[in-house]
Amino acid sequence: MFKTYLRLLGFARPLSRYAVPYAVYATLYAVFNTFNYAMIIPILKTMFMDDFVFTPVYEFPKLSLHGQAFSDALNYIYTATFGTEFVLSNMLIMLAGVTIVMNLLSNLFRYLSAWTVENMRTRSLQRIRNEMFDKVAGMNVGYFSDQRKGDIMSRITADVGVVQFCITNTLQVAFREPLLIVGFIVLMLSISWQLSLFSILFLPVVALIIGSIVKRLRHPALKGQQRMGDMNSVLDESLSGIKVIKSYNATDYIRRKFAAINGEYSRLMLSMARRQQLASPMSEFLGISAVSVLIVFGGALVTSGSLSAAGFVAFIAAFSQITRPVRSFVDQFANINNGIAAGERIFALLDAAPEIEDKPEARTLTEFRDSIEFRGVGFSYDGQRQVLDDVSFTIRKGETVALVGPSGGGKSTLSELIPRFYDTTQGDILIDGVSVRDYTQESLRDHISVVAQDTVLFNDTIEGNLSLGRLGATHEEIVAAAKVANAHDFIMQTPDGYRTNIGDRGTKLSGGQRQRLSIARAVLKNPDILILDEATSALDTESEKLVQDALNTLLEGRTSVVIAHRLSTIHNADKIIVVDGGRIAEQGTHAELMARGGIYAHLIEMQSL
Ligand SMILES: Nc1ncnc2c1ncn2[C@@H]1O[C@H](COP(=O)(O)OP(=O)(O)O)[C@@H](O)[C@H]1O
Ligand SMILES: [Mg+2]
Repeated sequence: MFKTYLRLLGFARPLSRYAVPYAVYATLYAVFNTFNYAMIIPILKTMFMDDFVFTPVYEFPKLSLHGQAFSDALNYIYTATFGTEFVLSNMLIMLAGVTIVMNLLSNLFRYLSAWTVENMRTRSLQRIRNEMFDKVAGMNVGYFSDQRKGDIMSRITADVGVVQFCITNTLQVAFREPLLIVGFIVLMLSISWQLSLFSILFLPVVALIIGSIVKRLRHPALKGQQRMGDMNSVLDESLSGIKVIKSYNATDYIRRKFAAINGEYSRLMLSMARRQQLASPMSEFLGISAVSVLIVFGGALVTSGSLSAAGFVAFIAAFSQITRPVRSFVDQFANINNGIAAGERIFALLDAAPEIEDKPEARTLTEFRDSIEFRGVGFSYDGQRQVLDDVSFTIRKGETVALVGPSGGGKSTLSELIPRFYDTTQGDILIDGVSVRDYTQESLRDHISVVAQDTVLFNDTIEGNLSLGRLGATHEEIVAAAKVANAHDFIMQTPDGYRTNIGDRGTKLSGGQRQRLSIARAVLKNPDILILDEATSALDTESEKLVQDALNTLLEGRTSVVIAHRLSTIHNADKIIVVDGGRIAEQGTHAELMARGGIYAHLIEMQSL
């Protein structure tokens, strides 16, 4: 736990840049704030003429904690301003003036210290969010199917929000509250040590009671954050799937799901709030009870003459103030605890090791020369159900290999093993005789493009989306790629041409247009190896024709794996592999498979009906 804390603090780099000025400001704030309360004594004494004797002081007294030095200092200011003659109204003007200056200074330093904390908070949160995003962006594809998106989102937003307390409250706990407490204790001691001793006995009692309340807050806080993550997941699912939900009239289902999680979350928050809200009334009640006891004890001191009435009032004022920093000290500690809980979730994400990592001696795939070979490949997503089993075949450079078969057979999975989105669980995939595990992932993926059924476009301009294919491509190259992909014409018809923003996930475009943009992106990348996973299956016949033409141009002279649900498009493939239940059921050319009269021939027959 302490390690988590230190690591979190590490985000406030360099700590001294914030801590040193903060310590200075907090000290000055505590000093001037204490003086504010000390001013009560001379003001009351002057107004009520209570054992008040003005004596001119010509020299500023030496600094000391003794009350005499304080009144000497005030008398010196009076003498310097108004001379040696005592006039009540002048004295009050002077006292009011000093009070204003003290207050101005204490608030100035309070502001400066708050600003320092704010600065540190914002900078460290910025750093944490960036590191988390970098980490998530660097994770393997497999990570995102296990770990839910909503959970990641809530870690980056909500948990980072909670963790801030850990970082900022530290300074307050370390400097401000203790300094304030010390300031008030010094003031109280200088007024009456007997009364101070008596009242300080209360503080640990108050602190203990509040502490025991907040200690029980940590558990529901942690759970609350988890529920928040679940809620985000449901939200994300519902909002992105709203069309499907509506079309199935499934709003009730999703509503119930949301309401259940929302109810659970609110229940946790309520139980937390119940305890949290108890702290304030409890401490106020305890404080007032303590003050009442003090009135009895202090009253006796006043009657016996060992304490002035004004001093007694100032003492009560200081005492009522001291419970606030004590309470806040305890509160901040509780928040630091919550912050650590959130911090643990953040570090769980930051420390998650990508399952697929480059070997230290990994080589660079500079040029694809010869072949891709599947050698006894087996694969399972969860380690239990076998999705691929003993798959072996070879794709020669320049060949087009088609994967066909019933859906769920493992075609997509098979194709995703080539760019190493996942690692094979048995067997191996070799490119030019070398395992894909021995290449760096970056160089491997440099040579491969995947065009899948669901296009991935970003909320950016058309040009911005296309240039992802090859960062640094010139406008002319982008236009050329768009022309190859049959996209140029429709792009020119959009309001701003290549500068048109296509909206969130490209929603302002039709399916066929989106697909042609992703093909243009692949053209721009100009990969050796191309994987087409049902690239046209979501399209209507007309845009399918346009997209298919674009694909045919793209395929020319490349090595490709084509998964097609419309079998007419793959007649000319060099090799057709029928994948069924994770195994290769048959393979051969169109003519061979037709002659064989097996699954493929059967599928063709069904489609031509
Ligand atoms: N990310 C995943 N996590 C777990 N199982 C998956 C995942 N993707 C696909 N599967 C399962 O693997 C099997 C093969 O899926 P897939 O490769 O998509 O088949 P195809 O592309 O031939 O329709 C299916 O049973 C599917 O449920
Ligand atoms: Mg598929």
